[in-house]
Amino acid sequence: MTTAPDRAELALAELGREAQACVACPLASSRTNVVFSAGGSGARLMFVGEGPGRDEDLAGEPFVGRSGHLLDRLIEEEIGLARRDCYIANVVKCRPPNNRDPVPEEVAACRHFLEGQVSLVAPAVVVTLGNFAARALLGTTEGVTRLRGSIHPFATGVLVPTFHPAAALRGGGLVLAQMRADFVRAKRSLGEAGVR
Ligand code: URA
Repeated sequence: MTTAPDRAELALAELGREAQACVACPLASSRTNVVFSAGGSGARLMFVGEGPGRDEDLAGEPFVGRSGHLLDRLIEEEIGLARRDCYIANVVKCRPPNNRDPVPEEVAACRHFLEGQVSLVAPAVVVTLGNFAARALLGTTEGVTRLRGSIHPFATGVLVPTFHPAAALRGGGLVLAQMRADFVRAKRSLGEAGVR
């Protein structure tokens, strides 16, 4: 018998295969790998970044470079989970050349993949990392500096906006302290949703 989680996992795998073959925007021609996700459909906590960088493009996995190492550390230190307990994705699945920001057409072409991932994983808590992810999922033009600090109702649970780890790596102490506080908010929201 196929259970509901199995069905979600199968549907995510199918969506991932679709992404691997995607040529809907010009990023397809410069990518090494499509970077679809890390983690499984059973995760109750989801992280959404902007788009793959060089390390991720080479590895085919999100957040494996310096930003990823900081993300893993914050997940462990502030939430008490491991990376493997989470579902991790990006707004765009292919690396923008020279790490430039994705353009609106690229975000729009990729949007159905992220929407599918959110609805199939059905996380209790989504943490957006940086401006792009917060704006894409909350449908706002507001920046993360204003959005963070609050918990937003979203899909099957709540959304906690925070800075991109690259901002903490560039900007130092205050940004990192604010990220830690946001991760504590995410942990509290998981608890309120009955996830321990
Ligand atoms: N930055 C992102 O936004 N996503 C990644 O996967 C890596 C770096």
